[in-house]
Amino acid sequence: MTPLIDARKVRYRYADGTLALDGVDFQLFERETVALLGPNGSGKTTFVLHLTGLLHGEGIIRVCDLAMSKKNLPKIRARIGMVFQDSEEQLFLPTVLEDVAFGPRNLGLSPEEATRRAKLALEQTGMEEAAARAPYHLSAGEKRRVALAGVLAMSPEILVLDEPTTFLDPPAERDLVRLLRELPQAKILVTHDIPFARALATRAVFFEKGKIAGHGSIDDVVRRFQWEI
Ligand SMILES: Nc1ncnc2c1ncn2[C@@H]1O[C@H](COP(=O)(O)OP(=O)(O)OP(=O)(O)O)[C@@H](O)[C@H]1O
Ligand SMILES: [Mg+2]
Repeated sequence: MTPLIDARKVRYRYADGTLALDGVDFQLFERETVALLGPNGSGKTTFVLHLTGLLHGEGIIRVCDLAMSKKNLPKIRARIGMVFQDSEEQLFLPTVLEDVAFGPRNLGLSPEEATRRAKLALEQTGMEEAAARAPYHLSAGEKRRVALAGVLAMSPEILVLDEPTTFLDPPAERDLVRLLRELPQAKILVTHDIPFARALATRAVFFEKGKIAGHGSIDDVVRRFQWEI
């Protein structure tokens, strides 16, 4: 089976000299939900930013059998939807509805279809009542949910969520678990929230100093790296 994501020997150094990724090999297969665990600064965010071509280091990355290249970027970005760790940066239009409809519009859908999808996605994330509001006035947790709606509205094949539970209240987190369970897409969850990872992930990888130091079931990885408070 061809992996949806195939990353080989990914290495990346930031402009200031920090070696953030030091040879990461990672595959994601259909229907998997993989938790990316590991200490602050271990390279998790840097790695997922490579999957949508926002950063480009050494190594080889294929997404849905497309090589990571300038030419393939629009196709890749239609297939892989990402909610950033700092979702603030993701919201920029005057209203929540326009913001969520922006992605589908960019895919070339009609305004009506884009709006229909945006409304549905806002319902899925429990944010339909905020449709007419300004994204920058929302609370941190609300921004998170709107950013997720923006990704869902594009119906990607892969979901990459970087710390999706930060700022969420417990009921919102419970709703997110339920929603993600229902969604058929393969998922990458970057998280420090072990109960959340345990509720969803089919396996885990553990980042350490820019490398994958171990992988296995959530329980194995948590035990091996003593990754619980
Ligand atoms: N723009 C940048 N310039 C220089 N170094 C950076 C930059 N962004 C991140 N780094 C460094 O790269 C390394 C990996 O950072 P990254 O954000 O990928 O970690 P992370 O595993 O996502 O951490 P966290 O759990 O805190 O989100 C860290 O040492 C970090 O300080
Ligand atoms: Mg991070």
